[in-house]
Amino acid sequence: MNNSREKFSGRISLIAAFAGSAIGLGNIWRFPYMVGENGGAAFIVVYILCSLLVALPVFFTESLLGRNSGKGLVSTMNTFFGGKTRKVMSVIILTAPILITSFYSVVGGWSLDFFVRACMGEFCDISKEEAVQFFGKYSTSVTEPIISHFLFLLVSIAIVSRGIKKGIEKFNNITVPILFLLILLFIFYSSSLPGAQEGVKYLLKPDFGKITPGVLASAMGQSFFSLSLGVGTVMVYSSYMKKSENILEAGSYTVFFDTCFAILASFAIIPAVFSAGIELNAGPSLVFETLPYIFTSFKTVSPFLSYVIPVIFFLSILGAAITSEISLLEVIVDYLVEEKGLSRKKASVICFTVCLLIGIVCSLSFGPLSGIQIAGKNIFGFFDSISSNLFMILCSLIFALLVGWKMDRKTVWNELTNEGRGKKSVKIYPVLYFWIRYIVPVMLVIIFITNIFN
Ligand code: PHE
Repeated sequence: MNNSREKFSGRISLIAAFAGSAIGLGNIWRFPYMVGENGGAAFIVVYILCSLLVALPVFFTESLLGRNSGKGLVSTMNTFFGGKTRKVMSVIILTAPILITSFYSVVGGWSLDFFVRACMGEFCDISKEEAVQFFGKYSTSVTEPIISHFLFLLVSIAIVSRGIKKGIEKFNNITVPILFLLILLFIFYSSSLPGAQEGVKYLLKPDFGKITPGVLASAMGQSFFSLSLGVGTVMVYSSYMKKSENILEAGSYTVFFDTCFAILASFAIIPAVFSAGIELNAGPSLVFETLPYIFTSFKTVSPFLSYVIPVIFFLSILGAAITSEISLLEVIVDYLVEEKGLSRKKASVICFTVCLLIGIVCSLSFGPLSGIQIAGKNIFGFFDSISSNLFMILCSLIFALLVGWKMDRKTVWNELTNEGRGKKSVKIYPVLYFWIRYIVPVMLVIIFITNIFN
């Protein structure tokens, strides 16, 4: 084991790092929409079940692999595979982090740009048509989104290049609590809007009639994306985890904070959408068209709030995007350091350049390159879809099979129970081990096949 590897200072830093990676755009622009569309509280219940029964055990396996090897994604996999399989495996497991880092950074760039515009008061007085038009023009243009993508990536890689303690840990320790504070401020504001109570009521009333197998599959997909599974971020962060930490505890806290944030985001966004009496939508249009308009449409009530609210909103999106982006970048930088023998600085430069170039292609796929369609999607959508629906699930399956079937049982036991010292983990270990060996792989195969046919 490589003992010279940096470690997170303590439990709080470790959990802030996992939570920072997990809390991201997915919590803000996908989860609230899914809740709104699929039966309010009923969807939240289903989502929590998916997280606890499938995603959390996968989190344990990925975390276990990283902590045990004390290495990053590719190096850990290399301890299991040799020859040609090793090469194929490296390509499979590196595809998702590289693609996600690149397209995530394009959206991160948009948030940076919108944050700056909010600070300059550009959203204080904007009509719905103007908001839609503005985003349409902005996202399809060439220069501005690329410059923002460049700057967002630059800020993120600068944090990563400083290393674990001085860079990633410091940033997450400050940002993650602030994110919770901002979202609470937001709930406070949106629940005070006229008519918002209807939205709150909607969220609290479960409609189980809306839960179909399709909804179940999307809840599952969302829980994987939200917890950043199958991409190596959990593995690489776990390799910086002290042996005294308990994997089950760290994973459970991560699910707790990530789910809380997603639910809080729903209580911030849905009542506001109800109050404005417009249709809820998902993805970029929710964050960059609908919300700026809603939050500023109350300027008659308070001109001050119509300035401050968009600032807070885009700041929280920006913070959430950076804490996720740095975890993705760390997977790639760590690979270049560990496997290619580069210094952290050099690795950061290479990683930055590759993600910048792929990101530029993703950014242009909304404008000049929108004619290029793969499986009915533009390049951005295609990268998003194959990484979230296929690679994340496939890699999670590989991790679960390695832990359940290939790893020495004693090692699994030692890692999950801290060599028998973790009383609670010792108790649940037999059920958990059975679950990881039999149930999780079957579920992942079902999700994978369903996604291929979708
Ligand atoms: N979990 C992040 C989100 O919800 C996205 C992400 C996926 C981050 C994979 C890292 C790895 O937005």
